[in-house]
Amino acid sequence: MPHLTHGVIPVTRKLFIKTYGCQMNVYDSARMADVLAPLGYVSSSGPDGADMVILNTCHIRERASEKVYSELGRLRKIKKARTGSNNKMVIAVAGCVAQAEGEEILRRAPYVDIVLGPQTYHRLPEMVALATRASDKRNGNGNGILDTEFPVSSKFDHLPVENSSQGISAFLSVQEGCDKFCTFCVVPYTRGVEFSRPIEQVFEEAQRLVKKGAREITLLGQNVNAYHGKNETGSEVGLSYLIERLSEITGLDRLRYTTSHPRDMDESLINSHGKVGTLMPYLHLPVQSGSDRILAAMNRRHTAEEYRNIIHSLRKARPDIALSSDFIVGFPGETEADFEATIALIKEIKFSQAYSFKYSIRPGTPAGMLNDQVDDSVKNERLAYLQSVLLEQQNDYNSSKIGKELPVLFERQGRHKGQLIGRSPYNQSVSVNDAPADLIGTIRNVKIESNLSHSLGGKVLEHGGLGSSAVNGNSL
Ligand code: 5AD
Ligand code: SF4
Repeated sequence: MPHLTHGVIPVTRKLFIKTYGCQMNVYDSARMADVLAPLGYVSSSGPDGADMVILNTCHIRERASEKVYSELGRLRKIKKARTGSNNKMVIAVAGCVAQAEGEEILRRAPYVDIVLGPQTYHRLPEMVALATRASDKRNGNGNGILDTEFPVSSKFDHLPVENSSQGISAFLSVQEGCDKFCTFCVVPYTRGVEFSRPIEQVFEEAQRLVKKGAREITLLGQNVNAYHGKNETGSEVGLSYLIERLSEITGLDRLRYTTSHPRDMDESLINSHGKVGTLMPYLHLPVQSGSDRILAAMNRRHTAEEYRNIIHSLRKARPDIALSSDFIVGFPGETEADFEATIALIKEIKFSQAYSFKYSIRPGTPAGMLNDQVDDSVKNERLAYLQSVLLEQQNDYNSSKIGKELPVLFERQGRHKGQLIGRSPYNQSVSVNDAPADLIGTIRNVKIESNLSHSLGGKVLEHGGLGSSAVNGNSL
């Protein structure tokens, strides 16, 4: 419903946001919609008929910018078809590609009205006002608005309190940016230096999400475990403190956080996995490689042994913790022996799921300038083998849950009638058939019956309702 501004009912306008990339972008897109709601913008499901289209872009994948330019080409046609009518379309490019490309987007695609970075979207209303005023004069011929600054004051201080990233499982950005400068990665250049939101601001947003129906919150940050804030006495505290604070919120049954760096996996955070019942027994902890030589060249600033030790401590704190990771194969200079060290690490640790990528050059990053780039055919071979090992582990992991009872938080209806989809504490998707829709938003015990390769199938146990009580993870 359109909001009221100064007693005037704004005209309803349609807004379509296309989101690429990570969960942080999903969160940002929801927040951009919140910022634009007072102007009368309501979400629409596609670009046709939309008054404003925002591409919220991601720079992490190969040829990310090219993909954005081809999407813009498609939007140009829709916009052009409406030229001359009163019903013009505003096109904005947001996110990391916007940050990285900046002015270049306005040069290559002059019909774009606004280019904005991830740190400035609280200023969207002003940009939209300027863009719509200027659009008659510009007629799609350049002079679009560019705002890719890293402002001194945080956007979080200017966003509306309402967070529409709602749902049973909600996202909450607590940290942004990265100071690590891994040599393959663009993030430190597009998202800027590390920044953490104050504890109270996060706490209040979490309370609002729970009030609107969230039972699970995933704390987000490019380097979320670098989170730091001040407690009531002014002492510096880390993510473990924030997690303990949030675990006091009644009705918030599950907490997760992503993405973490091994360097910031401190003792107190590791211990939280054993102590805090609402912290789910699942961790995504990217290692990238199992070779010390490659880890050093990547500037990861830890060894494979140090990673193994962290995993060992985590398993000591929380024996059933499920582990996930990111891997890059074919980093410049990676030999067969380096690759084998990665495989050895995977076989030793055993991951419940993982993401793996072929190294590819991100313009402007140090690794892109190295001479000993690995042949694409070698990268393909290594990736295929590594993925086969990881897939087998994922399969074994999922199969190990067959016959067990798991508390499942039901999030939504499935594709078939009577089917419900939820999540296990170990971050596995679980589907059940012939279940009443009013189980959505509740945690129920499910007897796992089948491994459907990327998810589990099971049956809700009559006796197994956990209602709204918190699940004590340690007793699963
Ligand atoms: N090439 C391949 N994979 C990359 N990633 C980041 N940069 C690159 C790159 N240049 C992967 C890393 C990171 C994940 C989000 O994307 O594994 O953890
Ligand atoms: Fe990129 Fe490394 Fe920072 Fe992760 S820790 S965002 S991989 S620079």
